[in-house]
Amino acid sequence: MPSNVLVTYGTTNGSTARIAETIAEVLRKQGVSAEAMPAPSVTNIESYDAVVVGGGLYAGRWHKDARRFVRRHRRALAGRPLWFFSSGPLDATASERDIPPVPGVRRAMNRLDVEEYATFGGCLEAGAKGFVARKILSSGKGGDFRDFGQIEAWAVRIGAELVNESQTS
Ligand SMILES: Cc1cc2nc3c(=O)[nH]c(=O)nc-3n(C[C@H](O)[C@H](O)[C@H](O)COP(=O)(O)O)c2cc1C
Repeated sequence: MPSNVLVTYGTTNGSTARIAETIAEVLRKQGVSAEAMPAPSVTNIESYDAVVVGGGLYAGRWHKDARRFVRRHRRALAGRPLWFFSSGPLDATASERDIPPVPGVRRAMNRLDVEEYATFGGCLEAGAKGFVARKILSSGKGGDFRDFGQIEAWAVRIGAELVNESQTS
């Protein structure tokens, strides 16, 4: 039976949503059914065979919606293939090397059996919410550092693993 994948995310300014939608699109192209949904809209994950959870990074923490999602659904998540990602760095570092998860995400990964983790570059552009966001932008440190090639390659690996699994089970 083909997998049904939930790609869910916590976002303040929308850039993590685009990453999640890209991952879901790549999975669909591989023949895996997948949908991207903001974490607060997900009430039940029983109908999904696998889950990808992502969050923007804010002050060294995963977005609160991603944290809450993992807490709320921890029992159901424990029985499903699971992937985590973050989006944050406002420079090219995430394209250049693997950036480890922030401590809170690391702890959640230790509690749950996460298949793979990735940190993707972030995005902060005019119109972003909040005083600190405006300060970062006015100091010239904003921009779009999402590397969609890297994101797509990561999603292809997820799809390959799920397709493999469904063929061997
Ligand atoms: C107030 C604020 C704090 C941030 N803190 C971090 C951080 O601790 N680490 C990091 O890598 N990026 C940080 N960023 C960059 C964001 O993670 C980046 O803009 C991300 O793409 C936001 O995701 P979103 O658009 O889905 O909300 C911060 C941005 C803002 C505005």
